[in-house]
Amino acid sequence: MHQADAIVLFGATGDLARRMLLPSLYFLDADGFLPDGFRIVATARAEMTTEAFRAQAEKILADRPEGLDPQVWARFSDRLAYVGADATTAEGAALLRPALESCGAPFFFLAVSPSLFEKICVALADAGLATDQTRIVLEKPIGRDLETSRHINAALGAIFDEDQIFRIDHYLGKETVQNLIALRFANAFFEPLWNNLTIDHVQITVAETEGVGARWPYYDEYGALRDMLQNHMLQLLCLVAMEPPADMEPDSVRNEKVKVLRSLRRFTRVDAGDKSVRGQYTPGVVAGAAADGYESERGQKSGTETFVALRADIDNWRWAGVPFFLRTGKRMPEKRTSVSIQFKPVPHSIFGQASIHDMTPNRLVIDLQPDEDISLTLMNKAPGLSSGGMRLQSLPLSLSLLSTYEGAGGRRRIAYERLLLDVIQGDATLFVRRDEVEEAWRWVDGVADAWAEARLEPKPYAAGSWGPSGAFALIERFGKAWSD
Ligand code: BG6
Repeated sequence: MHQADAIVLFGATGDLARRMLLPSLYFLDADGFLPDGFRIVATARAEMTTEAFRAQAEKILADRPEGLDPQVWARFSDRLAYVGADATTAEGAALLRPALESCGAPFFFLAVSPSLFEKICVALADAGLATDQTRIVLEKPIGRDLETSRHINAALGAIFDEDQIFRIDHYLGKETVQNLIALRFANAFFEPLWNNLTIDHVQITVAETEGVGARWPYYDEYGALRDMLQNHMLQLLCLVAMEPPADMEPDSVRNEKVKVLRSLRRFTRVDAGDKSVRGQYTPGVVAGAAADGYESERGQKSGTETFVALRADIDNWRWAGVPFFLRTGKRMPEKRTSVSIQFKPVPHSIFGQASIHDMTPNRLVIDLQPDEDISLTLMNKAPGLSSGGMRLQSLPLSLSLLSTYEGAGGRRRIAYERLLLDVIQGDATLFVRRDEVEEAWRWVDGVADAWAEARLEPKPYAAGSWGPSGAFALIERFGKAWSD
């Protein structure tokens, strides 16, 4: 795979570019990962000189807690050019050509509304910029359902080969998500236990304190199911559940993930009520501050869910009978992303009645946010003397990733740094393949259809709570509890 020699950043004045992409490119440069001569061509509709854009970028970077290194900035700003253009037309796209004169293998990063994906790709092709040496990078959402995602994929596929298309799910760029692969496949002792003989159930929680706020025009169309579950949460589920790939080649890993998605049991109308809960936040208090309800942010009544909890089942040999409980919501009491693997209890306790209530089954918890950590709770003898049998205690064996890697260049990387570097190098392992996106939509469409058939409306929950009471009832119905 050849190295890219430039990025063309569409939507360069937008939120994603400011918060994530420009800082990620800067840090890659600081760490020596940008190839010599690599160009950064920023583009958006606004008319602006390169100098003005550089000044904006400098401020964005200087305002970050890491601060600006003058030497790195000098090198970085030299790479930066700005082109004001309407890239949805061939004439607009052609304006990019002079800035790319010395570049044979640029990649195009579309940090723009998905409604522009197709138009920009066609314009790039018409302007002669979409060659077999180029790559295209897209952000989610790829469509709103299977049909629309197929449409976008077909339009892209008419211009680019699949191995030129890099679909981002930024969760795959997170350090701990990749660590999940290392944990499973670089340690001999988990794999033999990683199945329905030993694992009782799996929980995946992605909780956010933020509300939807000004993003409602997008969010109201999508809701938590399509915004979070279809992509980030199903990716996490796939990494937990997939079979060991033969190697880390992009297609080896992605083939295994697709098999998991194909094995997800389709939701029925009955499942809608029994196995899922939709919620929408109402006014409340988050982190000590009053928070509006979704409908007042939205300005009118809405049937969109800002919370979803559901039970997913994977119908294959490894996972038959092991429920996967997925839960995500806005305006939760804390920001937390975690995967919790709950093992089965010991088959028989030799410790007698007194200790029975101390016995808790082992649990492997992979925390992604706010802190990255992996811990395994193990039963241990509580120190000291006791009458009437040994006292047991459950204690975590923790990798404490934060403190372990502190001092080893321990800055917490932005997920996009990894992903941008992979695009430069042409490694698609951490990107979502066409069939993967479409399989995920197929299953999510089934959930949405089941909800519609059952007329399942979102239940209110106060901002700052862990969702509607039905979310607790849901998991209790199957004899489990959320591991908060
Ligand atoms: C985005 C969703 O994909 O992920 C947002 O559109 C969500 O609604 C965000 O807030 C969460 O990302 P992170 O990295 O903060 O967990």
